[in-house]
Amino acid sequence: MLQPIDLFQERFGSVRYMLAPMAGITDTVFRLLMRKMGSQVVISELLSSEGLVRGGARTRQMLKFDERERPVGIQIFGSSPETMAEAAKIVQEEGADFVDINFGCPVKKVVCDGSGSAWLKHPEKMGELLSFIKSHLRIPLTIKVRTGWDDQTRNVKDVVRIAAQCGVSWVAIHGRTRAQGYSGLADWEIIRETAISSPIPIIGNGDVLTAAQAHQKIEDGYCHAVMIGRGALKNPWIFQEILSGTEGMEYNLVELINEHFELAIEKKDRDRAFLSLKKFMGWYASGYPYSSAFRGAIFQTNDVDDLKKLALDFFAQLGSQKPTDNGQPFLMGGHG
Ligand SMILES: Cc1cc2nc3c(=O)[nH]c(=O)nc-3n(C[C@H](O)[C@H](O)[C@H](O)COP(=O)(O)O)c2cc1C
Repeated sequence: MLQPIDLFQERFGSVRYMLAPMAGITDTVFRLLMRKMGSQVVISELLSSEGLVRGGARTRQMLKFDERERPVGIQIFGSSPETMAEAAKIVQEEGADFVDINFGCPVKKVVCDGSGSAWLKHPEKMGELLSFIKSHLRIPLTIKVRTGWDDQTRNVKDVVRIAAQCGVSWVAIHGRTRAQGYSGLADWEIIRETAISSPIPIIGNGDVLTAAQAHQKIEDGYCHAVMIGRGALKNPWIFQEILSGTEGMEYNLVELINEHFELAIEKKDRDRAFLSLKKFMGWYASGYPYSSAFRGAIFQTNDVDDLKKLALDFFAQLGSQKPTDNGQPFLMGGHG
């Protein structure tokens, strides 16, 4: 087994399992819920460094986190080293525990601008960028990458070597190339080969859907820590299961729904809370019987209270059932 991450050891213990950053999903509300459920670190969705530096109200709002989330990182993306360093300083001033850079986003608009996974085509330039940003920071700098731009250029080992030389604290690797998007399966062999020879911790990511799979990645020495994205949306108890080692625990859906509503209403204005809750209720329902009828019904609602009633009725009748994997594609696109 490879060693766990000890970056936050003194204050928060060592790190083996964490929630993946996901745009439109890992806002302060979901991060808090998952942190409470056992994710040992949380990271924001990607924020535009241009937006942060310009002081856009929406981007600045997305910078906010709750003290209970710590250790919490804010992820930024961009193409201009000066702007990215400026944005990283803003994140530091906000009090985040670390700055994470997105080098994995495959979205066309982002890569055309030279941001996200476009950096993977120029590892030397990426190194200059990382050293430059690092020279502006007191807090740790981490990065999230893919295995390479395409099949012919799977250069993640070079990227890790360069990142380590620049003082980066860890590299999270989504085991797909940019060209793959979300198709096929994550390549855990290249993650393992990279982790074994890496001087800094490697966080493996891609297609982990169960506690058993997460344990296996650690026990079989694939990586220093595991990052879980879509699996945590389908099964919000996944971190509890991982940490407790119990697969068959009690799933109190009603408690989860009540807590999600409370937090969303506390942290957001009513309109935003409503829109976000609608999305989450749809995701939580996936894998349960009659979930498509439920999704149809929630999209007819136009008020938080109606939505909550509908959701509580639906989830209460499920008792402590566990969602089943219906094998259907789930969120086959994203920013990393
Ligand atoms: C809806 C969605 C949004 C995403 N947004 C981000 C993001 O903002 N930053 C990032 O680094 N990765 C992002 N990702 C990628 C995930 O962090 C993760 O690398 C990917 O989903 C593979 O892991 P999984 O199979 O555990 O979901 C996103 C993925 C999804 C599905």
